[in-house]
Amino acid sequence: MKPVLVAGATGNVGARIVTQLRARDVPVRALSRNSPPDGVRGDLAKPETIAPALDGVDTVFLMLAGSAEALLPTVSLLGERVKRVVFLSSGSVDDSLAEQDNAIGTWHRSVEEAIEATSVDWTFLRPHGFAVNTLGWAPAIRADGVVRGAYGEASMPLIHEKDLAAVAVEALTADGHAGAKYVITGTRPLTQIEQVRIIGEAAGRPARWEEIPLPEARAAMLTRMPDFVVDTILTGFRELVTKPGEVTSTVQDVLGRPGLDFEVWAADHAADFQ
Ligand SMILES: NC(=O)c1ccc[n+]([C@@H]2O[C@H](COP(=O)([O-])OP(=O)(O)OC[C@H]3O[C@@H](n4cnc5c(N)ncnc54)[C@H](OP(=O)(O)O)[C@@H]3O)[C@@H](O)[C@H]2O)c1
Repeated sequence: MKPVLVAGATGNVGARIVTQLRARDVPVRALSRNSPPDGVRGDLAKPETIAPALDGVDTVFLMLAGSAEALLPTVSLLGERVKRVVFLSSGSVDDSLAEQDNAIGTWHRSVEEAIEATSVDWTFLRPHGFAVNTLGWAPAIRADGVVRGAYGEASMPLIHEKDLAAVAVEALTADGHAGAKYVITGTRPLTQIEQVRIIGEAAGRPARWEEIPLPEARAAMLTRMPDFVVDTILTGFRELVTKPGEVTSTVQDVLGRPGLDFEVWAADHAADFQ
């Protein structure tokens, strides 16, 4: 059996894909810039470093690492060398729009379009928010149990990275997923206030949300992310207050089992918050 090349192999999603493929005895070539365990080194922005890793490979898991533009030469290379690409895109992509209306959608759609222009069989995974994003609250929960932010009532179905990886593994290893654009979510919308409470329960220490003025919350986020990403996220949160994120049936449809609840994610990551 030919190896599957997994890019971003030490990341939240990539690492689970590697584990799940190996558990199925599928040979894996794990790739990142800093050599992953039993893997190879390569920079997705430098196709000449990716080319050697493609020897004997037909199937690739690809993710957006760095800018979309920097990834495009590697997409062309994949078009010449491999048969199947599963791309970790984003639920921010909206097919009803000719031009995406936010930076995150624009980046991911531009890579999707480049992949569509090749002759590979492609599958696009379009997840909404990852549950692992809440790991950003770990220092606050460990310090005094209070998470300070804006739009605590924003309600979204966060997805467990294990489910996302499991859908990717199906698309990488089974037939019938070519041309699919899978919008992937968690099992039910929860407000940020509820998410903090559930994490606190799993970690065995009380945790609560404290609403702070938007400019203060924005300033804190700007220490971790560029302004256009922060503003895209905050605009999304504002909309999620009045219109909770929709739940899709993709995990059930593709895996034949229900997705993992946020409570499961919190239990899996309890140690990170203790
Ligand atoms: N977070 C969300 O809510 C959300 C929602 C929808 C979609 N997404 C998508 O998911 C992505 C994040 O996935 P994740 O959480 O699994 O990522 P992650 O944990 O940040 O991991 C990134 C991985 O990519 C590798 N990497 C980074 N730059 C690279 C490069 N230039 N060449 C090769 N490898 C590189 C990293 O290892 P090295 O540093 O060693 O290279 C690491 O293995 C986002 O960028 C977005 O496209 C996220």
